[in-house]
Amino acid sequence: MPTADRPHRDHHALVCGASAGIGRAVAFALASRGARLSILARRAEPLGALVPELQWAGAREVFAIAADLADEQGVIDAAEAVLAQGGPVHILINNSGGPAGGPLLSVSSAAFMAVFRQHVISAQLLSQRFVPGMAAAGFGRIVNIVSTSVYEPIPGLGLSNTVRAAMGGWSKSLSRELPPGVTINNVLPGFTDTERLVGLAAARAAAQGIGVEEVRRGWLAEVPEGRLIEPEETAETVAFLCSAAAGAIRGVSLAVDGGRSRGI
Ligand SMILES: NC(=O)c1ccc[n+]([C@@H]2O[C@H](COP(=O)([O-])OP(=O)(O)OC[C@H]3O[C@@H](n4cnc5c(N)ncnc54)[C@H](OP(=O)(O)O)[C@@H]3O)[C@@H](O)[C@H]2O)c1
Repeated sequence: MPTADRPHRDHHALVCGASAGIGRAVAFALASRGARLSILARRAEPLGALVPELQWAGAREVFAIAADLADEQGVIDAAEAVLAQGGPVHILINNSGGPAGGPLLSVSSAAFMAVFRQHVISAQLLSQRFVPGMAAAGFGRIVNIVSTSVYEPIPGLGLSNTVRAAMGGWSKSLSRELPPGVTINNVLPGFTDTERLVGLAAARAAAQGIGVEEVRRGWLAEVPEGRLIEPEETAETVAFLCSAAAGAIRGVSLAVDGGRSRGI
């Protein structure tokens, strides 16, 4: 039975991109709420190391699945493995690594297709497979970790901007089709202190011939909160959207960006 401090005791959550950054923090947030967890990423080793930590944090059971979200058949196989090991999925967190930056005109169609598969097609395939179980349970939560570029394209991240907009359109459309009790929402991270951001800062510094610290200072000048966001802060927002209390929130994109986005 679910309890006040273990509200997800009866729920099985699949967290994609769970071995690092925001996905890892989301896995811990759901573990502490008592969920059964399937955690997915490409590299098996960091995932395996996470299993006992998540159990210690409160997860009832943890299943690790190594798969590449950019590989369509791999995603289909992973979904079957998730169901076979952990049963019907009640919470799906669509999340993975961000696309590389650089000029849009230099991006090949193969790179476009790979990133589209990794972000949009994987979310579609996993939702298709798991939503019937959510509908049968009368409870389902899909949360997509996207980017504030859903609203405002970010300079130098043209490929990412394109795919994020597609995710925004996909999830809003799906929000109108899902049955009562099953919601989908987007969380839009701002500058969040993860491996992804470290890599982006290094790439930007090299491209501009400046130091990493200067890059960071430039970023933070755009953030009214004046600091990087901790992945745990983003994860708490995701956990709220997965809660029963958030049952009337559907089809929204919520920025966790320290106020960086300028749109109303
Ligand atoms: N951090 C930020 O400031 C920020 C800002 C805006 C948006 N975002 C977006 O938020 C999402 C998460 O970002 P993050 O900073 O947490 O990233 P991160 O630290 O790079 O972590 C990415 C996670 O996804 C997994 N992953 C990457 N590619 C994958 C693939 N093809 N298949 C399966 N798993 C994959 C990684 O593990 P493996 O490498 O083992 O697969 C890792 O667990 C990304 O879409 C990112 O662009 C982040």
